[in-house]
Amino acid sequence: TPELIHSPKEMRAKVIEAQRSGLKVGFVPTMGALHEGHLSLVGRAAAECDIAVVSIFVNPTQFGPNEDFSKYPRTLDSDVEMLSQYHPVWVFCPEAADMYPPGMSTVVSPPSVALPLEGEFRPTHFAGVTTIVLKLFNIVPADIAYFGQKDYQQACVLRQMAIDLDVATRIVVCPIVREEDGLAMSSRNRYLSPEERTAALSISRALRVATERLEAGDRNAASIAAGMRAEMNAAGIREIDYAVLANPQTLETLQTATDTVVILIAARVGQTRLIDNCVVSLT
Ligand code: PAJ
Repeated sequence: TPELIHSPKEMRAKVIEAQRSGLKVGFVPTMGALHEGHLSLVGRAAAECDIAVVSIFVNPTQFGPNEDFSKYPRTLDSDVEMLSQYHPVWVFCPEAADMYPPGMSTVVSPPSVALPLEGEFRPTHFAGVTTIVLKLFNIVPADIAYFGQKDYQQACVLRQMAIDLDVATRIVVCPIVREEDGLAMSSRNRYLSPEERTAALSISRALRVATERLEAGDRNAASIAAGMRAEMNAAGIREIDYAVLANPQTLETLQTATDTVVILIAARVGQTRLIDNCVVSLT
């Protein structure tokens, strides 16, 4: 069964000791409520490294004042149980008071790729993410850290942060894991009622329809984006934060599609905000 470590100091000492003895350490930062998407990252870390470290910490600073921090699912026992299929796994689950002690006021200012899309709708989110992930990288100075493409913009932000701040850990981004019907796995899917779950399917459907139009030669990104909105509206989704085709590096919205684009959606289904994306490469 996985070893639980609460103390940042102890965690860092263990990682450094393992590396001194020649072991390669892989790291998967999470907020818990683990599902197959998270486990795909852990599986990759376990396959490529000698030790997989999984952090479980619901980071308060990346939630806005009206977001779901207090009701975010906390399921540590079943998370640890799910991780027991991999070994060795070390689970780092710090207390908030140890990550944010009184007097802690430093914030990592995110790179400019954090500004559009999520940055417009969650203006303080990425500063919370960059701050906690840089702290985690210092506590778990792993050889490789694994992130999911599910949070496409987060991966862009963290990759740029790692370059800008000389992070020694290599960042690997892994594919989105979906339910059989296409819904991208998310810890927040458990909030959905059966009706909302059906409506939510229109998000991945919209991505597929958009991909087909690109593959058929359509380059009118604005029209494709309008088509995605129509697909989701028809399923009863009214609150679409964005549904765009964007430059896969800068995340600038495109009016005309280029050979490689990322299609990104954020929408509220009932009270639950969901995101999804896909990269389309036509060359
Ligand atoms: P969390 O939402 O728990 O996600 C942890 C990691 O799992 C992220 O890299 C995310 O992209 C990945 N992930 C989530 N769902 C996935 C899916 N369906 N397929 C593939 N990967 C998936 O992202 C965070 O936590 C936090 O922002 C964190 C980086 C831990 C900082 O607090």
